[in-house]
Amino acid sequence: MNDKEIVAQAALEYVKNNTIIGLGTGSTANYFIEGLAKKIKNENLDIKVVASSTISQISAIQAGLTYISLDQIEAIDLYVDGADEIVLSNSIEVLKGRGYDLIREKLLASASKQCIIIGDNSKIVTKIGDNFPIPIETSPIAWKITQKIIEEFSINCNLRKNNAGDGFAITSYGNLVLDCDFKYGDISSLSKKLSELPGVLEHGIFLNIAHLSLIANEGEVKTYKSI
Ligand code: 5RP
Repeated sequence: MNDKEIVAQAALEYVKNNTIIGLGTGSTANYFIEGLAKKIKNENLDIKVVASSTISQISAIQAGLTYISLDQIEAIDLYVDGADEIVLSNSIEVLKGRGYDLIREKLLASASKQCIIIGDNSKIVTKIGDNFPIPIETSPIAWKITQKIIEEFSINCNLRKNNAGDGFAITSYGNLVLDCDFKYGDISSLSKKLSELPGVLEHGIFLNIAHLSLIANEGEVKTYKSI
């Protein structure tokens, strides 16, 4: 098993019967989805799931999980997702968004009684933005004005291409993504500033949301708690 699979297995320990679980997006989250399907079958559990993207929704249904629509729930018991960057400070800081669906990911993470961010050691950084630009979900009519505003205080701010590079990345809700690099300042101020911009539907900085982070390094999983 690789570290992504090992950490996903460790997160299964937090799954309880008769709960609603939010599923994240990405390769690490996929291991969790597969593991959850096996656990439910082996232990005959009654668990319903919602997903943070169309792709995870399809994976969940294909794995045989009982899927409920996001607009049918007010809260979820547990949310498990991967991350692009994790800062292990007193309160765990997370950067997400290589999988586009920021509105849905932050909605589920915020609505969860327990939010667990899982990753391998490569995800640990000293500050958000070290390895990846900050993704911003914006609507097709707002992207140009939003880009112009953000350019006033960023280094780069570009519309994300799709994987084939022949078009643009489109979220589950038909939105676009701007990938932006900022001169590092206070991450909390940046997060607030971005949230206040009218064209920003959501951005990838997740502060004060994760309760726990599980990190796998060479087969060993360590647990970090937000204070
Ligand atoms: C999707 C995400 C992913 O969780 C993040 O990109 C990590 O992916 P992976 O587990 O494949 O490394 O934020 O928006």
